[in-house]
Amino acid sequence: MSGRRGARSGRRAGGSPSEQPPAGAPAGKEMTIVLTEPSAGGAPAGPAPAAAHGVRIHPTAIIEPGVTIGPETAIWDGVHVRGPSSIGRDCIIGEKSYIAYGVTIGDGVKINAHVYICTGVTIEAGVLIGPGVIFTDDRHPRAFDDPAGLAPSAPTPDTLKTVVRTGATVGAGALIGPAVEIGPYAMIGMGAVVTRDVLPHALAVGSPARVAGWLCVCGTPFGGAAVAAPALCKRCGRRYTVVYGPRGRILSALDR
Ligand SMILES: CC(C)(COP(=O)(O)OP(=O)(O)OC[C@H]1O[C@@H](n2cnc3c(N)ncnc32)[C@H](O)[C@@H]1OP(=O)(O)O)[C@@H](O)C(=O)NCCC(=O)NCCS
Ligand SMILES: [Zn+2]
Repeated sequence: MSGRRGARSGRRAGGSPSEQPPAGAPAGKEMTIVLTEPSAGGAPAGPAPAAAHGVRIHPTAIIEPGVTIGPETAIWDGVHVRGPSSIGRDCIIGEKSYIAYGVTIGDGVKINAHVYICTGVTIEAGVLIGPGVIFTDDRHPRAFDDPAGLAPSAPTPDTLKTVVRTGATVGAGALIGPAVEIGPYAMIGMGAVVTRDVLPHALAVGSPARVAGWLCVCGTPFGGAAVAAPALCKRCGRRYTVVYGPRGRILSALDR
């Protein structure tokens, strides 16, 4: 095993051909590349212990300078994290996922494979992002800046911000529109197209996503959109009341 296996965020790529930034890397920017290292018998390796505090980064992951990664976080194969960005502690970043500049990810977040997280996205603690989820940050995008020139990939004042609040779940293959807030402990059904904010504890499904029910912190559904108050979770015993806010009914926890 070469010493490269221990590479981690912030280390500069070296000079051999295999250490060059991949095609399409921004010109003049140094990138940290954790080199691919064949594992015994060609079997895929898990994330290698890479950094202090138990951070594990797979040898094929690309972690750019300016990325901060919290203790005990694991980053799987083929992941690309652009810098600056921030990933909390005890997270899992699934294989082939992409995390853009300026993204903030809290503690205990689980991101499945093939997830695209663009600039302007904040993901709070304890969130689950299902496989193949795509975030967006521009409502009327063009490749070019009118009248000419390629539009920048870096954040601009027009980059729209999206936040996924604590404990929420985004189901597989969901598309998350720009400038939305997915409330705490909400759940987005697989394949949903989210175009508007999602209320706390709401289950939102379909295209466009609409409230189809309500869920406990523990993930147990309350059985349909017309939940009665007070609601008691059959699984964990948490109690909820229904309050009426400017955007309609909200399930509000009485216990945490
Ligand atoms: C939305 C979801 C939570 C509903 O689960 P559920 O409460 O057990 O509901 P059911 O499966 O009984 O389905 C209830 C109804 O909603 C429909 N439905 C289920 N999931 C749906 C979805 N994602 N979008 C639209 N409709 C959906 C069902 O077809 C059913 O309709 P019907 O009664 O007319 O047949 C679940 O289907 C889902 O999408 N979970 C996320 C799974 C995921 O992405 N995991 C990622 C990690 S692997
Ligand atoms: Zn519960």
